[in-house]
Amino acid sequence: MEGASSVQPQAPTQNSPPRVLITGGNGYVAQHLIKALLPRAQANEIRLAYTYNARNGVDPLAASLPGPTKDHVLAHRADLEDSDSLHMAVAACKPDAVMHLAAMSSPAACARNPEKAMRVNCPLALLDALALHSPEALLVFFSTDQVFSGTVSPPALYSEAGESGRREEEEPVNVYGRSKRAFERAIQVRPDRTFTRHSSSPRVYVAAALSLSISSSPPPVDLAVPQDRWPRHLILRSSNIIGPPSPFLRQGKFLQWLDELLETSVGPLELFDDECRSFLYLQDVLSLLCALLDSYRPSRPLEGPTAGGNVGRGEPILGAREGEDAKDASSLQRASLPASARLLVGTYNMGGPDALTRVDLGRLVWRARGGERGDCSGRIVPVRRASLNLNFEAPLNIGMDSGKLRQDAGRLAFPGTSMEIAIPEILSQK
Ligand SMILES: NC(=O)c1ccc[n+]([C@@H]2O[C@H](COP(=O)([O-])OP(=O)(O)OC[C@H]3O[C@@H](n4cnc5c(N)ncnc54)[C@H](OP(=O)(O)O)[C@@H]3O)[C@@H](O)[C@H]2O)c1
Repeated sequence: MEGASSVQPQAPTQNSPPRVLITGGNGYVAQHLIKALLPRAQANEIRLAYTYNARNGVDPLAASLPGPTKDHVLAHRADLEDSDSLHMAVAACKPDAVMHLAAMSSPAACARNPEKAMRVNCPLALLDALALHSPEALLVFFSTDQVFSGTVSPPALYSEAGESGRREEEEPVNVYGRSKRAFERAIQVRPDRTFTRHSSSPRVYVAAALSLSISSSPPPVDLAVPQDRWPRHLILRSSNIIGPPSPFLRQGKFLQWLDELLETSVGPLELFDDECRSFLYLQDVLSLLCALLDSYRPSRPLEGPTAGGNVGRGEPILGAREGEDAKDASSLQRASLPASARLLVGTYNMGGPDALTRVDLGRLVWRARGGERGDCSGRIVPVRRASLNLNFEAPLNIGMDSGKLRQDAGRLAFPGTSMEIAIPEILSQK
Protein backbone atom coordinates (compact mmCIF):
# COMPACT_ATOMS: atom_id res chain seq x y z
CA MET A 1 0.00 0.00 0.00
CA GLU A 2 1.32 3.38 -0.91
CA GLY A 3 0.18 6.71 0.38
CA ALA A 4 0.49 10.35 -0.64
CA SER A 5 0.52 11.18 3.01
CA SER A 6 2.10 10.08 6.24
CA VAL A 7 -1.34 9.90 7.89
CA GLN A 8 -2.07 6.32 8.82
CA PRO A 9 -5.54 4.78 8.58
CA GLN A 10 -7.24 4.34 11.93
CA ALA A 11 -10.10 2.09 12.90
CA PRO A 12 -13.32 4.05 12.53
CA THR A 13 -15.15 4.85 15.71
CA GLN A 14 -18.60 6.24 16.25
CA ASN A 15 -17.21 9.74 16.55
CA SER A 16 -14.43 9.82 13.97
CA PRO A 17 -15.17 11.78 10.80
CA PRO A 18 -16.65 9.89 7.85
CA ARG A 19 -14.11 8.21 5.62
CA VAL A 20 -14.56 8.99 1.97
CA LEU A 21 -12.86 6.93 -0.72
CA ILE A 22 -12.76 8.23 -4.30
CA THR A 23 -11.79 5.66 -6.90
CA GLY A 24 -9.77 6.85 -9.90
CA GLY A 25 -8.34 9.90 -8.13
CA ASN A 26 -6.31 10.93 -11.19
CA GLY A 27 -9.43 11.25 -13.34
CA TYR A 28 -11.08 14.49 -14.41
CA VAL A 29 -14.11 14.55 -12.10
CA ALA A 30 -12.19 12.95 -9.23
CA GLN A 31 -9.57 15.70 -9.16
CA HIS A 32 -12.26 18.34 -9.02
CA LEU A 33 -14.00 16.43 -6.25
CA ILE A 34 -10.80 16.02 -4.27
CA LYS A 35 -10.19 19.76 -4.56
CA ALA A 36 -13.75 20.49 -3.40
CA LEU A 37 -13.43 18.13 -0.43
CA LEU A 38 -9.94 19.11 0.69
CA PRO A 39 -11.15 21.95 2.96
CA ARG A 40 -13.40 19.45 4.76
CA ALA A 41 -10.47 17.05 5.12
CA GLN A 42 -8.24 19.84 6.41
CA ALA A 43 -10.95 20.79 8.91
CA ASN A 44 -11.10 17.13 9.98
CA GLU A 45 -14.75 16.91 8.93
CA ILE A 46 -13.97 13.94 6.69
CA ARG A 47 -11.06 11.60 6.09
CA LEU A 48 -10.26 11.62 2.43
CA ALA A 49 -8.61 8.92 0.35
CA TYR A 50 -8.42 8.07 -3.31
CA THR A 51 -7.23 5.18 -5.42
CA TYR A 52 -4.91 5.39 -8.37
CA ASN A 53 -4.39 2.85 -11.09
CA ALA A 54 -1.58 0.38 -10.56
CA ARG A 55 -0.14 1.02 -14.02
CA ASN A 56 3.60 1.49 -13.52
CA GLY A 57 2.85 2.14 -9.87
CA VAL A 58 2.89 5.85 -10.68
CA ASP A 59 0.48 8.30 -9.07
CA PRO A 60 0.75 11.63 -10.94
CA LEU A 61 -1.77 13.23 -8.60
CA ALA A 62 0.39 12.70 -5.51
CA ALA A 63 3.15 14.67 -7.18
CA SER A 64 0.75 17.45 -8.18
CA LEU A 65 -1.15 18.03 -4.95
CA PRO A 66 -0.09 21.23 -3.23
CA GLY A 67 2.30 20.47 -0.36
CA PRO A 68 0.15 21.50 2.62
CA THR A 69 -2.81 19.44 1.43
CA LYS A 70 -0.89 16.19 1.09
CA ASP A 71 -1.23 15.32 4.74
CA HIS A 72 -4.99 15.35 4.36
CA VAL A 73 -5.49 12.85 1.60
CA LEU A 74 -4.35 9.25 1.44
CA ALA A 75 -3.59 7.44 -1.80
CA HIS A 76 -4.10 3.71 -2.32
CA ARG A 77 -2.97 1.77 -5.31
CA ALA A 78 -5.86 -0.17 -6.82
CA ASP A 79 -6.47 -1.64 -10.25
CA LEU A 80 -10.10 -2.44 -10.95
CA GLU A 81 -8.92 -5.55 -12.79
CA ASP A 82 -6.97 -6.75 -9.78
CA SER A 83 -9.15 -8.05 -6.98
CA ASP A 84 -6.30 -8.21 -4.46
CA SER A 85 -5.37 -4.57 -4.91
CA LEU A 86 -9.02 -3.55 -4.48
CA HIS A 87 -9.33 -5.58 -1.30
CA MET A 88 -6.13 -4.06 0.08
CA ALA A 89 -7.23 -0.51 -0.69
CA VAL A 90 -10.70 -0.96 0.81
CA ALA A 91 -9.31 -2.78 3.86
CA ALA A 92 -6.82 0.00 4.48
CA CYS A 93 -9.40 2.74 4.09
CA LYS A 94 -12.56 1.14 5.51
CA PRO A 95 -14.66 3.79 3.81
CA ASP A 96 -18.03 5.01 5.01
CA ALA A 97 -18.71 6.36 1.54
CA VAL A 98 -17.23 5.39 -1.81
CA MET A 99 -17.39 7.69 -4.81
CA HIS A 100 -16.79 5.19 -7.56
CA LEU A 101 -15.51 7.24 -10.48
CA ALA A 102 -12.74 5.04 -11.91
CA ALA A 103 -13.65 3.63 -15.28
CA MET A 104 -12.63 3.00 -18.84
CA SER A 105 -14.54 6.11 -19.79
CA SER A 106 -13.84 6.23 -23.51
CA PRO A 107 -16.53 4.45 -25.57
CA ALA A 108 -14.02 4.05 -28.40
CA ALA A 109 -11.48 2.34 -26.11
CA CYS A 110 -14.21 0.11 -24.70
CA ALA A 111 -15.19 -0.93 -28.23
CA ARG A 112 -11.59 -1.85 -29.02
CA ASN A 113 -11.30 -4.07 -25.95
CA PRO A 114 -14.73 -5.26 -24.78
CA GLU A 115 -13.47 -7.86 -22.32
CA LYS A 116 -11.25 -5.37 -20.54
CA ALA A 117 -14.05 -2.80 -20.56
CA MET A 118 -16.35 -5.25 -18.82
CA ARG A 119 -13.68 -6.15 -16.24
CA VAL A 120 -12.88 -2.51 -15.48
CA ASN A 121 -16.37 -1.03 -15.65
CA CYS A 122 -18.14 -3.83 -13.84
CA PRO A 123 -15.71 -4.47 -10.95
CA LEU A 124 -17.60 -7.04 -8.91
CA ALA A 125 -14.54 -7.40 -6.70
CA LEU A 126 -15.19 -3.88 -5.43
CA LEU A 127 -18.55 -5.01 -4.08
CA ASP A 128 -16.90 -8.05 -2.53
CA ALA A 129 -14.22 -5.91 -0.90
CA LEU A 130 -16.83 -3.52 0.47
CA ALA A 131 -18.94 -6.40 1.75
CA LEU A 132 -15.95 -7.68 3.66
CA HIS A 133 -14.44 -4.47 4.98
CA SER A 134 -17.13 -1.77 4.86
CA PRO A 135 -20.50 -3.46 4.71
CA GLU A 136 -22.40 -0.31 5.67
CA ALA A 137 -20.72 2.00 3.18
CA LEU A 138 -22.67 4.24 0.87
CA LEU A 139 -21.69 3.49 -2.73
CA VAL A 140 -22.07 6.31 -5.24
CA PHE A 141 -21.53 4.97 -8.75
CA PHE A 142 -21.01 7.17 -11.79
CA SER A 143 -22.87 5.48 -14.58
CA THR A 144 -23.61 7.05 -17.94
CA ASP A 145 -26.41 8.33 -20.16
CA GLN A 146 -25.10 5.78 -22.66
CA VAL A 147 -27.07 3.09 -20.86
CA PHE A 148 -29.90 4.42 -23.05
CA SER A 149 -30.12 3.31 -26.65
CA GLY A 150 -30.59 6.77 -28.17
CA THR A 151 -33.59 6.07 -30.31
CA VAL A 152 -35.89 8.75 -28.92
CA SER A 153 -36.74 11.65 -31.18
CA PRO A 154 -36.00 15.06 -29.70
CA PRO A 155 -37.46 16.83 -27.85
CA ALA A 156 -38.45 13.58 -26.10
CA LEU A 157 -36.20 12.79 -23.14
CA TYR A 158 -35.32 9.62 -21.29
CA SER A 159 -36.71 9.18 -17.82
CA GLU A 160 -35.01 6.83 -15.37
CA ALA A 161 -37.31 4.11 -16.62
CA GLY A 162 -36.19 4.63 -20.20
CA GLU A 163 -38.21 5.71 -23.18
CA SER A 164 -41.79 6.30 -22.16
CA GLY A 165 -44.24 3.85 -23.61
CA ARG A 166 -41.63 1.14 -24.20
CA ARG A 167 -42.33 -2.04 -22.35
CA GLU A 168 -39.01 -3.77 -22.68
CA GLU A 169 -35.87 -2.48 -20.97
CA GLU A 170 -33.54 -0.32 -23.05
CA GLU A 171 -30.36 -2.04 -24.12
CA PRO A 172 -27.25 0.09 -24.53
CA VAL A 173 -25.89 0.15 -28.06
CA ASN A 174 -22.19 0.09 -27.20
CA VAL A 175 -19.74 -1.75 -24.97
CA TYR A 176 -19.23 1.25 -22.70
CA GLY A 177 -22.95 1.53 -22.01
CA ARG A 178 -23.33 -2.22 -21.57
CA SER A 179 -20.44 -2.43 -19.10
CA LYS A 180 -21.85 0.44 -17.05
CA ARG A 181 -25.32 -1.08 -17.16
CA ALA A 182 -23.84 -4.38 -15.98
CA PHE A 183 -22.43 -2.72 -12.87
CA GLU A 184 -25.69 -0.89 -12.27
CA ARG A 185 -27.42 -4.23 -12.27
CA ALA A 186 -24.78 -5.70 -10.01
CA ILE A 187 -25.45 -3.14 -7.30
CA GLN A 188 -29.14 -2.39 -7.71
CA VAL A 189 -31.48 -3.63 -5.06
CA ARG A 190 -34.29 -5.56 -6.58
CA PRO A 191 -36.14 -6.75 -3.52
CA ASP A 192 -38.75 -8.38 -5.69
CA ARG A 193 -36.25 -10.63 -7.40
CA THR A 194 -33.76 -13.30 -6.45
CA PHE A 195 -30.32 -13.04 -7.96
CA THR A 196 -27.56 -15.51 -8.43
CA ARG A 197 -24.17 -15.18 -6.87
CA HIS A 198 -21.30 -13.86 -8.96
CA SER A 199 -18.32 -15.06 -6.98
CA SER A 200 -17.23 -17.16 -4.08
CA SER A 201 -16.45 -14.18 -1.90
CA PRO A 202 -18.43 -13.26 1.22
CA ARG A 203 -22.09 -12.65 0.66
CA VAL A 204 -23.83 -9.41 1.27
CA TYR A 205 -26.87 -10.05 3.38
CA VAL A 206 -29.60 -7.66 2.44
CA ALA A 207 -30.94 -6.24 5.62
CA ALA A 208 -33.18 -3.50 6.79
CA ALA A 209 -31.26 -1.22 4.47
CA LEU A 210 -33.67 -2.31 1.79
CA SER A 211 -35.98 0.25 3.28
CA LEU A 212 -33.63 2.90 1.88
CA SER A 213 -35.48 2.93 -1.41
CA ILE A 214 -36.70 6.45 -2.03
CA SER A 215 -39.74 5.17 -3.83
CA SER A 216 -42.74 3.82 -2.03
CA SER A 217 -42.17 0.99 0.43
CA PRO A 218 -40.50 -2.00 -1.16
CA PRO A 219 -42.31 -5.30 -1.03
CA PRO A 220 -41.50 -7.52 1.95
CA VAL A 221 -38.38 -9.62 1.51
CA ASP A 222 -36.84 -12.56 3.22
CA LEU A 223 -33.93 -10.96 5.05
CA ALA A 224 -32.11 -14.25 5.19
CA VAL A 225 -31.86 -14.46 1.42
CA PRO A 226 -28.29 -13.75 0.40
CA GLN A 227 -27.99 -11.27 -2.42
CA ASP A 228 -25.05 -9.89 -4.29
CA ARG A 229 -26.44 -6.41 -4.46
CA TRP A 230 -25.37 -3.29 -2.63
CA PRO A 231 -28.41 -1.83 -0.94
CA ARG A 232 -27.04 1.55 0.10
CA HIS A 233 -26.33 2.92 -3.32
CA LEU A 234 -26.75 5.99 -5.43
CA ILE A 235 -26.36 5.42 -9.17
CA LEU A 236 -25.91 8.61 -11.13
CA ARG A 237 -26.38 8.27 -14.88
CA SER A 238 -24.21 11.15 -15.89
CA SER A 239 -24.41 13.05 -19.12
CA ASN A 240 -21.32 14.74 -20.62
CA ILE A 241 -19.77 16.88 -17.93
CA ILE A 242 -18.67 20.37 -18.88
CA GLY A 243 -16.21 22.19 -16.65
CA PRO A 244 -12.82 23.84 -16.38
CA PRO A 245 -9.58 21.84 -16.79
CA SER A 246 -8.83 19.45 -13.94
CA PRO A 247 -7.31 21.39 -11.06
CA PHE A 248 -4.12 19.41 -10.43
CA LEU A 249 -3.15 17.74 -13.70
CA ARG A 250 -4.80 20.38 -15.94
CA GLN A 251 -6.62 17.90 -18.17
CA GLY A 252 -9.27 19.37 -20.43
CA LYS A 253 -12.37 17.75 -21.87
CA PHE A 254 -14.69 18.47 -24.80
CA LEU A 255 -15.24 22.13 -23.91
CA GLN A 256 -11.51 22.87 -23.89
CA TRP A 257 -11.06 21.05 -27.19
CA LEU A 258 -13.91 23.02 -28.73
CA ASP A 259 -12.76 26.36 -27.39
CA GLU A 260 -9.21 25.84 -28.54
CA LEU A 261 -10.21 24.76 -32.04
CA LEU A 262 -12.59 27.66 -32.43
CA GLU A 263 -9.82 29.98 -31.35
CA THR A 264 -6.92 28.56 -33.33
CA SER A 265 -8.25 26.92 -36.47
CA VAL A 266 -8.87 29.15 -39.42
CA GLY A 267 -11.10 26.80 -41.37
CA PRO A 268 -14.64 25.70 -40.60
CA LEU A 269 -15.19 23.35 -37.68
CA GLU A 270 -17.57 20.47 -38.35
CA LEU A 271 -19.84 19.66 -35.41
CA PHE A 272 -22.72 17.20 -35.06
CA ASP A 273 -26.19 18.67 -35.23
CA ASP A 274 -28.16 15.44 -34.86
CA GLU A 275 -26.76 14.08 -31.59
CA CYS A 276 -28.37 15.29 -28.36
CA ARG A 277 -26.89 15.20 -24.89
CA SER A 278 -28.03 16.79 -21.63
CA PHE A 279 -24.67 18.48 -21.07
CA LEU A 280 -24.09 18.93 -17.37
CA TYR A 281 -22.20 21.60 -15.44
CA LEU A 282 -19.38 20.14 -13.35
CA GLN A 283 -20.21 22.57 -10.55
CA ASP A 284 -23.66 20.96 -10.20
CA VAL A 285 -22.04 17.54 -9.86
CA LEU A 286 -19.68 18.80 -7.16
CA SER A 287 -22.50 20.60 -5.39
CA LEU A 288 -24.53 17.38 -5.30
CA LEU A 289 -21.69 15.19 -4.04
CA CYS A 290 -20.60 17.70 -1.40
CA ALA A 291 -24.16 18.15 -0.16
CA LEU A 292 -24.56 14.40 -0.04
CA LEU A 293 -21.42 13.92 2.01
CA ASP A 294 -22.12 16.88 4.27
CA SER A 295 -25.46 15.39 5.22
CA TYR A 296 -24.38 11.77 5.33
CA ARG A 297 -24.53 10.00 8.65
CA PRO A 298 -22.36 6.92 8.44
CA SER A 299 -23.49 3.83 10.19
CA ARG A 300 -21.08 2.77 12.91
CA PRO A 301 -19.63 0.71 14.38
CA LEU A 302 -18.70 -1.52 11.49
CA GLU A 303 -19.54 -5.07 12.37
CA GLY A 304 -19.15 -7.34 9.38
CA PRO A 305 -21.96 -8.41 7.07
CA THR A 306 -25.20 -6.69 7.94
CA ALA A 307 -27.73 -8.78 9.75
CA GLY A 308 -30.41 -6.22 10.33
CA GLY A 309 -30.70 -3.25 12.65
CA ASN A 310 -29.18 0.13 11.92
CA VAL A 311 -32.37 1.33 10.30
CA GLY A 312 -32.25 5.07 9.96
CA ARG A 313 -28.48 5.26 10.15
CA GLY A 314 -26.01 5.28 7.32
CA GLU A 315 -28.47 7.18 5.22
CA PRO A 316 -27.45 9.63 2.55
CA ILE A 317 -29.83 12.49 3.07
CA LEU A 318 -30.11 15.88 1.53
CA GLY A 319 -31.70 18.80 3.23
CA ALA A 320 -32.42 21.37 0.55
CA ARG A 321 -35.89 20.92 -0.83
CA GLU A 322 -37.36 22.17 -4.06
CA GLY A 323 -38.39 25.79 -3.79
CA GLU A 324 -36.38 26.58 -0.66
CA ASP A 325 -35.11 30.10 -0.86
CA ALA A 326 -31.39 30.03 -0.27
CA LYS A 327 -28.73 31.18 -2.66
CA ASP A 328 -25.50 30.10 -1.06
CA ALA A 329 -25.23 26.37 -1.59
CA SER A 330 -22.14 25.87 0.52
CA SER A 331 -23.59 27.58 3.59
CA LEU A 332 -26.84 25.69 3.34
CA GLN A 333 -25.08 22.41 2.71
CA ARG A 334 -23.47 22.83 6.06
CA ALA A 335 -26.56 24.07 7.86
CA SER A 336 -28.51 21.74 10.05
CA LEU A 337 -30.91 19.54 8.17
CA PRO A 338 -34.54 20.52 8.02
CA ALA A 339 -37.16 18.07 9.10
CA SER A 340 -38.08 17.52 5.46
CA ALA A 341 -34.68 15.96 4.72
CA ARG A 342 -35.03 12.57 3.17
CA LEU A 343 -33.12 9.75 1.65
CA LEU A 344 -31.33 9.93 -1.66
CA VAL A 345 -30.80 6.36 -2.72
CA GLY A 346 -31.51 4.71 -6.01
CA THR A 347 -30.86 5.32 -9.69
CA TYR A 348 -31.03 8.82 -11.12
CA ASN A 349 -30.50 10.57 -14.41
CA MET A 350 -27.92 13.31 -13.89
CA GLY A 351 -27.94 15.79 -16.73
CA GLY A 352 -28.40 19.47 -17.41
CA PRO A 353 -31.78 21.07 -18.07
CA ASP A 354 -31.45 21.16 -21.89
CA ALA A 355 -30.70 18.52 -24.49
CA LEU A 356 -28.22 20.15 -26.85
CA THR A 357 -26.25 19.24 -29.95
CA ARG A 358 -22.53 19.86 -30.42
CA VAL A 359 -23.46 22.70 -32.77
CA ASP A 360 -25.48 24.29 -29.96
CA LEU A 361 -22.50 23.96 -27.67
CA GLY A 362 -20.15 25.45 -30.29
CA ARG A 363 -22.43 28.45 -30.68
CA LEU A 364 -22.58 28.96 -26.92
CA VAL A 365 -18.78 28.90 -26.73
CA TRP A 366 -18.60 31.36 -29.58
CA ARG A 367 -21.09 33.66 -27.93
CA ALA A 368 -19.34 33.40 -24.56
CA ARG A 369 -16.20 34.70 -26.22
CA GLY A 370 -18.21 37.76 -27.09
CA GLY A 371 -17.21 39.97 -29.99
CA GLU A 372 -13.65 38.63 -29.90
CA ARG A 373 -14.18 36.33 -32.85
CA GLY A 374 -16.77 38.04 -35.01
CA ASP A 375 -19.60 36.15 -36.70
CA CYS A 376 -19.62 32.35 -36.28
CA SER A 377 -21.46 31.56 -39.49
CA GLY A 378 -19.07 29.73 -41.75
CA ARG A 379 -16.86 28.73 -38.80
CA ILE A 380 -19.25 26.15 -37.32
CA VAL A 381 -20.49 23.74 -39.95
CA PRO A 382 -23.26 21.30 -38.95
CA VAL A 383 -22.72 17.68 -39.98
CA ARG A 384 -24.95 14.65 -39.53
CA ARG A 385 -23.38 12.16 -37.17
CA ALA A 386 -25.80 9.50 -38.33
CA SER A 387 -24.08 9.50 -41.72
CA LEU A 388 -20.59 8.94 -40.28
CA ASN A 389 -18.79 5.76 -39.29
CA LEU A 390 -17.26 6.31 -35.86
CA ASN A 391 -15.84 2.78 -35.74
CA PHE A 392 -18.02 2.11 -32.73
CA GLU A 393 -21.69 2.35 -31.95
CA ALA A 394 -22.82 5.50 -30.18
CA PRO A 395 -26.36 6.42 -29.19
CA LEU A 396 -27.72 9.40 -31.09
CA ASN A 397 -30.24 11.13 -28.83
CA ILE A 398 -29.84 10.48 -25.15
CA GLY A 399 -31.20 13.67 -23.72
CA MET A 400 -32.38 12.89 -20.18
CA ASP A 401 -35.01 14.27 -17.89
CA SER A 402 -33.20 14.80 -14.57
CA GLY A 403 -36.17 16.32 -12.79
CA LYS A 404 -36.29 13.46 -10.33
CA LEU A 405 -32.78 14.19 -9.09
CA ARG A 406 -33.49 17.93 -8.90
CA GLN A 407 -36.63 17.25 -6.94
CA ASP A 408 -35.25 14.65 -4.55
CA ALA A 409 -31.89 16.34 -3.94
CA GLY A 410 -33.31 19.86 -3.96
CA ARG A 411 -32.31 22.68 -6.29
CA LEU A 412 -29.71 23.87 -3.88
CA ALA A 413 -27.78 20.63 -4.00
CA PHE A 414 -28.43 20.05 -7.69
CA PRO A 415 -29.27 23.38 -9.31
CA GLY A 416 -29.58 22.21 -12.91
CA THR A 417 -27.50 25.01 -14.38
CA SER A 418 -28.02 25.66 -18.08
CA MET A 419 -25.10 25.69 -20.50
CA GLU A 420 -25.97 29.31 -21.29
CA ILE A 421 -24.87 30.15 -17.77
CA ALA A 422 -22.22 27.48 -17.28
CA ILE A 423 -20.11 28.04 -20.38
CA PRO A 424 -19.39 31.77 -19.90
CA GLU A 425 -18.72 31.05 -16.22
CA ILE A 426 -16.20 28.33 -17.07
CA LEU A 427 -14.47 30.24 -19.85
CA SER A 428 -14.12 33.33 -17.69
CA GLN A 429 -12.09 31.25 -15.23
CA LYS A 430 -9.17 30.98 -17.63
N1 LIG B 1 -16.69 13.13 -17.81
C1 LIG B 1 -17.88 12.90 -18.35
O1 LIG B 1 -18.36 13.71 -19.17
C2 LIG B 1 -18.67 11.67 -17.98
C3 LIG B 1 -19.91 11.44 -18.56
C4 LIG B 1 -20.63 10.31 -18.18
C5 LIG B 1 -20.12 9.43 -17.25
N2 LIG B 1 -18.89 9.66 -16.72
C6 LIG B 1 -18.36 8.71 -15.75
O2 LIG B 1 -17.91 9.44 -14.63
C7 LIG B 1 -16.72 8.88 -14.11
C8 LIG B 1 -15.62 9.94 -14.06
O3 LIG B 1 -15.42 10.43 -15.38
P1 LIG B 1 -14.06 11.17 -15.77
O4 LIG B 1 -14.35 11.95 -16.99
O5 LIG B 1 -13.50 11.85 -14.59
O6 LIG B 1 -13.16 9.92 -16.16
P2 LIG B 1 -11.60 9.88 -16.49
O7 LIG B 1 -11.03 11.25 -16.49
O8 LIG B 1 -11.44 9.07 -17.72
O9 LIG B 1 -11.00 9.10 -15.26
C9 LIG B 1 -11.18 7.73 -15.10
C10 LIG B 1 -10.21 7.23 -14.06
O10 LIG B 1 -10.35 5.82 -13.97
C11 LIG B 1 -9.07 5.27 -13.83
N3 LIG B 1 -9.00 3.90 -14.33
C12 LIG B 1 -9.10 3.46 -15.60
N4 LIG B 1 -8.89 2.13 -15.64
C13 LIG B 1 -8.66 1.74 -14.37
C14 LIG B 1 -8.37 0.50 -13.77
N5 LIG B 1 -8.26 -0.65 -14.49
N6 LIG B 1 -8.18 0.46 -12.44
C15 LIG B 1 -8.26 1.59 -11.70
N7 LIG B 1 -8.52 2.80 -12.21
C16 LIG B 1 -8.72 2.87 -13.54
C17 LIG B 1 -8.17 6.17 -14.67
O11 LIG B 1 -6.85 6.02 -14.22
P3 LIG B 1 -5.65 5.92 -15.28
O12 LIG B 1 -5.82 7.13 -16.16
O13 LIG B 1 -4.45 5.94 -14.44
O14 LIG B 1 -5.88 4.63 -16.00
C18 LIG B 1 -8.74 7.53 -14.38
O15 LIG B 1 -8.13 8.09 -13.26
C19 LIG B 1 -16.39 7.70 -15.00
O16 LIG B 1 -16.90 6.55 -14.39
C20 LIG B 1 -17.14 7.98 -16.28
O17 LIG B 1 -17.49 6.79 -16.96
C21 LIG B 1 -18.16 10.76 -17.05
